[in-house]
Amino acid sequence: MSITWKSPSNIALVKYWGKYGNQLPANPSISFTLDNCHTSTTLTTEERELVHSLSGDFSFELYLDGVKTPSFEPKIESYLNKISGIIPWLKDIHLKIETHNSFPHSSGIASSASGMSALSLCILDEHLNRGGEVPDFFKRASLLSRIGSGSASRSVYGGLVVWGSHQDVPDSHQEYAVPLTRVIHPEFETYQDTVLLVDVGEKAVSSTVGHGLMDNHPYAKSRYDHAVKNLSSLLPILKDGNHEEFGHLVESEALTLHAMMMASNPYFILMKPNTLKIIESIWNFRRDTGLPVYFTLDAGANVHMLYPKAIEQKAMGLVKEELVAFCKDSAYICDHVGTGPSKT
Ligand code: DP6
Repeated sequence: MSITWKSPSNIALVKYWGKYGNQLPANPSISFTLDNCHTSTTLTTEERELVHSLSGDFSFELYLDGVKTPSFEPKIESYLNKISGIIPWLKDIHLKIETHNSFPHSSGIASSASGMSALSLCILDEHLNRGGEVPDFFKRASLLSRIGSGSASRSVYGGLVVWGSHQDVPDSHQEYAVPLTRVIHPEFETYQDTVLLVDVGEKAVSSTVGHGLMDNHPYAKSRYDHAVKNLSSLLPILKDGNHEEFGHLVESEALTLHAMMMASNPYFILMKPNTLKIIESIWNFRRDTGLPVYFTLDAGANVHMLYPKAIEQKAMGLVKEELVAFCKDSAYICDHVGTGPSKT
């Protein structure tokens, strides 16, 4: 019996940076779900007595692009362990997990959001097949995804998604993400994200280490308060379609995330010279043309260039004429706001 789910990555506009307890966010965050950057995962289950060699508590094997990848096993094992209270049959069966990312693993694009959400959707679907009761499938999928990776909680819905309690988002919750159901200006439903790949190596700072830097961080409290305020400010901007205010807030969020890292102990600079060159080009282009082209950053050197679909041709002109020169091997990925995961 095999189940396949395709789940997208997402890009945060107000960033999740800092966590506590069982992967709960220190502040609420909001993201655009993407489309072209996704993970497809197939879960095949077998009753365990049929499996020849059993070792440890769980029995599973993981294949990335058809190749057995033992380096991912500790992360999967720890995830299975954490969700086994919710999904009780996990130790009774053997799991074969076959996963494929639409983007190169080494592209520096975080695969944990798409990967952990795709796996969680497969496991929850199998739970239904086994007679489990799941009253609100996607809410529960988001909760399981969160346990795997915080940002993954936001990948189970399309469009704009909020994770973490916030007074202005009525159903928002610390344990799972919710789609933003209020009225959104149509231009924000088709926003474009061109991911400029500056550094394609392994992440310099793992997310676990990164979030840990916020514990005892001198500016943690004010950062968390600031994120709450930024989310409050962003909601009316998304409704009114004010690109300028959107860009200002989103760029400030990205730079604040990196400022937190620079002010941590130990400190890190995750931007590369070409990250700054791209940011400067975007700012110059915006000044010269008046067009709404903005950037955001993950916890790495790549730049996500955000703009409305209406100016796609002109924005892509900037990419091809200028920005591609700052990308490693001229590589970039064209993506846009997507509709969320699908069962295939
Ligand atoms: C900078 O979700 O990768 O992308 O919960 O430890 O798996 P874990 O961290 P992860 O952190 C993402 C951080 C971020 C901001 C964001 O996506 O909100």
